[in-house]
Amino acid sequence: MPLLAAPSNESEQIGTLGTAIARGILDPLDKSTVSVEPLTATVGTEPSKRRVEEEFSQHSSRLEVLLQKDNVRAIQEADVVLFAVKPVKREDVFGTPGVREALRGKLILSIMAGISTTELKRLTGSGEQDQSPPLQVVRAMPNMAANIREAMTPYTANTETLSKENIEIASWVSNQVGHSQLIAESNFDISAVLVGCAGSLLLLAIDGLLDAAVAEGVKRPEAQNFIMKQCNRNAEVGAGRKSSKCVAREDRISWRVFDKGAVGVGEARSQIGLHGCNHDRG
Ligand SMILES: NC(=O)c1ccc[n+]([C@@H]2O[C@H](COP(=O)([O-])OP(=O)(O)OC[C@H]3O[C@@H](n4cnc5c(N)ncnc54)[C@H](OP(=O)(O)O)[C@@H]3O)[C@@H](O)[C@H]2O)c1
Repeated sequence: MPLLAAPSNESEQIGTLGTAIARGILDPLDKSTVSVEPLTATVGTEPSKRRVEEEFSQHSSRLEVLLQKDNVRAIQEADVVLFAVKPVKREDVFGTPGVREALRGKLILSIMAGISTTELKRLTGSGEQDQSPPLQVVRAMPNMAANIREAMTPYTANTETLSKENIEIASWVSNQVGHSQLIAESNFDISAVLVGCAGSLLLLAIDGLLDAAVAEGVKRPEAQNFIMKQCNRNAEVGAGRKSSKCVAREDRISWRVFDKGAVGVGEARSQIGLHGCNHDRG
């Protein structure tokens, strides 16, 4: 693939998720689409700075780690800025004098949970100046599997104003820690719940089943093999890739939920819980 007019420099606030993403960016799976040289990361405290520098010591020539007092400088020097701070810190980060000005014209990626593009627009002060070009902002939600580069990351943006090049950069960043999918913001929260909870809840149940089987005398590798074979098949069925009674049930539940005008996720979930089994029996 051709090299895009790629970000020459990327800046990010770096913690657990930020570190996983930095790992992906510095050692990308796709080396041909985007090239990030160099990467600047900022953190809140000295211990975090030391942690990140140590973790990426082999990339020291390409990664600069700064403290939060240097956020403005890091943003000024970047083409793409990734916000991976806790949402509760957003007012401090965006409210620091110089941050809003430095962000103008940059591609802004945010993985802050629960922070909509409208809120990002407010935080960046976008629209306050009539002459300013449309905000280039992408909201994404990787899950913890980013640590092993197997995340599923839904991301959303105003595709009428976000440039094609910036969509490619956003998807490239997410794809270095797994897979990504562009979705409408109206579906974002429930999609984030799916990628955040589906895997971890299943793993919890699998862990329990494995322990129970081992306690009954099954050898762990054998139990793992049984579960692996079943899980792949069940995940496909559950997700509707293979036709089955489950798929029919899913369709009917969805139909009933919408027929009753239920719009809240909680309401939809409770209907699935209450009526799902009855459908199959009835
Ligand atoms: N964890 C998840 O499963 C998950 C999944 C999807 C999205 N997210 C979102 O990802 C974001 C990061 O989550 P996390 O779990 O990675 O949190 P985290 O480990 O606490 O990382 C946050 C990082 O931000 C740094 N920081 C704090 N204040 C800063 C400032 N003013 N300027 C620059 N850096 C600053 C922190 O440094 P210090 O520690 O030194 O203060 C830390 O390195 C959150 O918004 C969260 O909602 C998390």
